[in-house]
Amino acid sequence: MKLTLQIWRQKSDQHPGKMMRYELASVSEHMSFLEMLDVLNEQLISKGEDPVAFDHDCREGICGMCGFVINGIPHGPLPGTTCCQLHMRHFHDGDELVLEPWRAAAFPVLRDLVVDRSALDRIIATGGFISVPTGSAPEGNIIPVPKPEAERAMDAAACIGCGACVAACPNASASLFTAAKISHLNVLPQGQPERYERAMAMVKQMRAEAFGHCTNIGECEAVCPKGIKLEVIALMNRDFIKSALTSRPVSENAGGI
Ligand code: SF4
Ligand code: FES
Repeated sequence: MKLTLQIWRQKSDQHPGKMMRYELASVSEHMSFLEMLDVLNEQLISKGEDPVAFDHDCREGICGMCGFVINGIPHGPLPGTTCCQLHMRHFHDGDELVLEPWRAAAFPVLRDLVVDRSALDRIIATGGFISVPTGSAPEGNIIPVPKPEAERAMDAAACIGCGACVAACPNASASLFTAAKISHLNVLPQGQPERYERAMAMVKQMRAEAFGHCTNIGECEAVCPKGIKLEVIALMNRDFIKSALTSRPVSENAGGI
């Protein structure tokens, strides 16, 4: 199939960017979206031009590195799918595709479609851990975890930190990401000792990183490639409010949302 690509090109956040138009012939429907960009880059390099920079690593939908906006939708039109797992059979001959980086003040453009998402790492660093005694690994079943809590924790832990939720949100809020990282620990018995400090610290860091607030629009849930649900934001808000209302850690409700 033949495609026309409109791609945001920008050398760095110190340089102005602009859309550039490229024509690509002979795109196989079996290619992934990133493989299609590889073909474009080979052509650009052979002409002595700069290739289009884009993030990627696993190309299996698990690492969270890839991500850009395709025709206005973070990760493109296929629900529950990262850019690297999106295949060209979902597009048509003659399509015009517009590719842009995540747009958010907290995600400065590094180059072309690559943005700096280290703000998400700094949120995790403030509370995305549990305090455990060091030593040999404990027996796996030594702390019984009720199945509903285990499943809720696993659902939240599916977040790959791609940042699509931020890109989709009109407020550029990182609430879905932050809430997923809080929830996958806060619903487990192992996460209870730091439950409320964790919620407070991670929400504070989210605000310090210039992400906006959640106003329950739901665009984040709609584009999340891992199906993270808005209910994690409700848990985050509840634990944050509890933390704000008490000056010391509260450890009741162990094991439950
Ligand atoms: S919540 Fe979803 S969209 Fe947001 S960072 Fe995690 S996986 Fe990506
Ligand atoms: S490259 Fe790892 S999720 Fe896309």
